[in-house]
Amino acid sequence: MIHVVTGCAGFIGSKLTDRLLASGGEVIGVDCFRDYYPVDLKQRNLEAASSSEAFELLRLDLSADSLEQLDDRVGGGDLTVYHLAAQAGVRKSWGKSFEVYARDNIIATQKLLEWAGGKKGLVNFVFASSSSVYGDVEDLPMREDITVPRPHSPYGVTKLAAENLVRLYSDNYGLPSVSIRFFTVYGPRQRPDMAFHRFIRAGLAGEPIEIYGNGSQTRDFTFVEDIVDGVLALGESTAGDTFNLGGGNRVALSEAVGMLEEVLGKSIEIRFMPTQKGDVPDTWASTEKARGSAGWKPATSLRKGLAAQVDWMLELLGEQRKDRAPYSSSR
Ligand code: NAD
Ligand code: UGA
Repeated sequence: MIHVVTGCAGFIGSKLTDRLLASGGEVIGVDCFRDYYPVDLKQRNLEAASSSEAFELLRLDLSADSLEQLDDRVGGGDLTVYHLAAQAGVRKSWGKSFEVYARDNIIATQKLLEWAGGKKGLVNFVFASSSSVYGDVEDLPMREDITVPRPHSPYGVTKLAAENLVRLYSDNYGLPSVSIRFFTVYGPRQRPDMAFHRFIRAGLAGEPIEIYGNGSQTRDFTFVEDIVDGVLALGESTAGDTFNLGGGNRVALSEAVGMLEEVLGKSIEIRFMPTQKGDVPDTWASTEKARGSAGWKPATSLRKGLAAQVDWMLELLGEQRKDRAPYSSSR
């Protein structure tokens, strides 16, 4: 069995790649190293994988490049595709940037589906979807078969469009597929635009953080290794369905900052800023379906997960001080 992981150099894709390799799998990683955040970080994410003979990296832009190279590598054997490549990030998807979101989330997905649809050995096409497809929901928790998806951001619209593409290739071409809605993922390698990455970095430097709104917004924060567990379990055991993966760590953002202060052992100065367009007040995943279908359950408490992210961040900042160019998370 060959595993194709798109977005293999990113936060979650690199963690999934490492885990597949650790369990003896053969991985073809696809990424075009978009510079949405520093490419150095993506190269660092792939350091472990690159030393494995079972890993091959293809630098391909799924939205524009021919996928012939990928064809040559996978041959005709059994194959699972984990499609994580995307332009992520809720708040930057307005205005001119929407073209990038449409290109990397919709066009790239359609091209990959066209390619995968012709593969006889395809065992599953696993799509990384998002809690952002639900939008501003009052009746919580968000349930796959009850809550009507109504995105609140342009990013959410592109992820829902991609989910629909996956479903229609399944309906029309019999492509085995599963869409998995991740809820705010955190932990080592988290993207620099995301809240905890910014908060930890600022907290360690003794700088203030910015909270959008009054901090009462809630998120069902999910530790990255729990996401990887869920992706593997659902990818292996299910097809033709949609699942939530939420960490069971639903807290208000201000509460999460309080916990981070305890982990860091120091207080963090907060500057309150206006609520950002596209942000939803709450997310909360019902995870009954993933528990029932794949026996998955999240294992990491927010405190433990934050401590792991702080350790990673200390290592990263230490390395960057020693031998790399200064780096900023403010992009
Ligand atoms: P990331 O930005 O770290 O990783 C995405 C990777 O995809 C990047 O390395 C980028 O270079 C690559 N990529 C983008 N467009 C590409 C293209 N056209 N061709 C090839 N490679 C391309 O993001 P992440 O946080 O790891 O997110 C991974 C996936 O999970 C995304 O699909 C995202 O929408 C989804 N997701 C993430 C979260 C989260 O909290 N991080 C939550 C819900 C869903
Ligand atoms: C995250 C990811 O960035 C998306 O790619 C993903 O699709 C989404 O989760 C999801 O669950 O579907 P988000 O919940 O906005 O989106 O994650 P964070 O960037 O960690 O933000 C969490 C909260 O902190 C948001 O309310 C945000 O407004 C707030 N925040 C973020 C701040 O108050 N200050 C900051 O500096 C950054």
